[in-house]
Amino acid sequence: MMQVSGARPTRWWDPTVSGDNVDAGAGLCSLAIAPLGYQCEEHQVVTKDGYILSLQRIPFGMNGSGGGTRRQPVLLQHGVLVDGMTWLLNSPEESLAFILADSGFDVWISNTRGTRFSRGHVSLNPTSRSYWDWSWDELVANDLPAIFDFVYEKSGQKLHYVGHSLGTLVALASFSEGRLVDKLKSAALLSPVAYLTHMQTPLGILCAKAFVGEVKYPTSCTSNNINTSTMINILKTFCHHPGVDCYDLMTSFTGINCCLNASTVDLFLKYEPQPTSTKTMVHLAQTFRDGVLTKYDYVRKDLNMESYGRTTPPVYNLTNIPADLPMFLSYGGKDCLSDVRDVEQLLDDLKFHRTDKLAVQFLEDFAHADFVMGVTAKQVVYPSMTSFFHDHDN
Ligand SMILES: *[C@@H]1O[C@H](CO)[C@@H](O)[C@H](O)[C@H]1NC(C)=O
Ligand SMILES: *[C@@H]1O[C@H](CO)[C@@H](O)[C@H](O)[C@H]1NC(C)=O
Ligand SMILES: *[C@@H]1O[C@H](CO)[C@@H](O)[C@H](O)[C@H]1NC(C)=O
Ligand SMILES: *[C@@H]1O[C@H](CO)[C@@H](O)[C@H](O)[C@H]1NC(C)=O
Repeated sequence: MMQVSGARPTRWWDPTVSGDNVDAGAGLCSLAIAPLGYQCEEHQVVTKDGYILSLQRIPFGMNGSGGGTRRQPVLLQHGVLVDGMTWLLNSPEESLAFILADSGFDVWISNTRGTRFSRGHVSLNPTSRSYWDWSWDELVANDLPAIFDFVYEKSGQKLHYVGHSLGTLVALASFSEGRLVDKLKSAALLSPVAYLTHMQTPLGILCAKAFVGEVKYPTSCTSNNINTSTMINILKTFCHHPGVDCYDLMTSFTGINCCLNASTVDLFLKYEPQPTSTKTMVHLAQTFRDGVLTKYDYVRKDLNMESYGRTTPPVYNLTNIPADLPMFLSYGGKDCLSDVRDVEQLLDDLKFHRTDKLAVQFLEDFAHADFVMGVTAKQVVYPSMTSFFHDHDN
């Protein structure tokens, strides 16, 4: 069973289980963007702790449309256990990355450290434990700043940001520390996650409890000791159980998504999940348990002291988010990861935000994955988001 204290730096999900088997050598551009008629550039960004992240840019619309005009940069940051591919799984008319490119934006797609296209490091090998010794604090402190600097420099403009799930948490945590805001035009947060206290999925709750050592859950969650073949067998068991298909496997994590296309879900399961560090999962589990947003808790006072100069981890206080930072939040009534009550707690932290700088959208039918992969997101979410971006272009 996993322990909180000194959680060992390992992968939570073995990369060879999933999309890593698919065309591992090809980049995201040649795999999923260029074949559809979009120009695509592969870029690499090195974080200050040495991780080599891949970043894809779609500079124009389909077949080069919209060239020559001033295009505002927008960065898409995916959630946990997936990678930039999640923005590209529907048709071009339905997928956010292509919609933004076709409607005049300069689109940048990031891939979190450890995922298939961002596996490199200047000195560490991904098979080593030290490679996986990070939590989402390092995404706040190292990944996002490196990516923002890069896009800002290349495009010569401040960015719009779109985060989903963990991509919202790392953004909110960054903003609360005053990071990124000098290079940001506005931020759209889809399925915002800050507090996790009311997370409802049984699988999620069990995982969370297992990661902080509250329950003994021998296999599927505490995969610290799990090997590839065991993981494949668990997935097969889920997917091939009578009456259960992989569509339901996703549902059991995210809540009942209203609007997913079954063939998109098949594609999703071909490319995802992607690995993350065990420490990230433990960190999320601590948020679920404690109801407070803090940095990673080493539990042992001496270890917290070593990292933070104090015996308890510092709080990310979301009331410190600058009140004039333009933010668009969209959340769903059926979302079991980003529960309505947890979003309300986040909104309470933002209650003194300038009303002309905060747009909040609630979609009764939407669950977690609908915001990225739902076929109706192009009608109900993305148009208000892009008009928010246009209203905050400065
Ligand atoms: C893009 O080019 C392809 C191939 O020439 C063509 O079939 C398609 O209709 C074009 N799409 C647009 C939106 O111009
Ligand atoms: C994986 O673990 C299972 C159960 O612990 C074991 O039976 C199997 O031999 C292991 N496979 C490999 C390739 O190590
Ligand atoms: C679902 O995806 C398939 C395959 O891409 C496509 O043919 C179909 O039109 C999609 N359905 C909807 C409702 O978007
Ligand atoms: C956040 O800051 C506010 C204002 O300084 C303070 O009232 C609140 O207690 C802080 N919250 C946490 C969790 O520390």
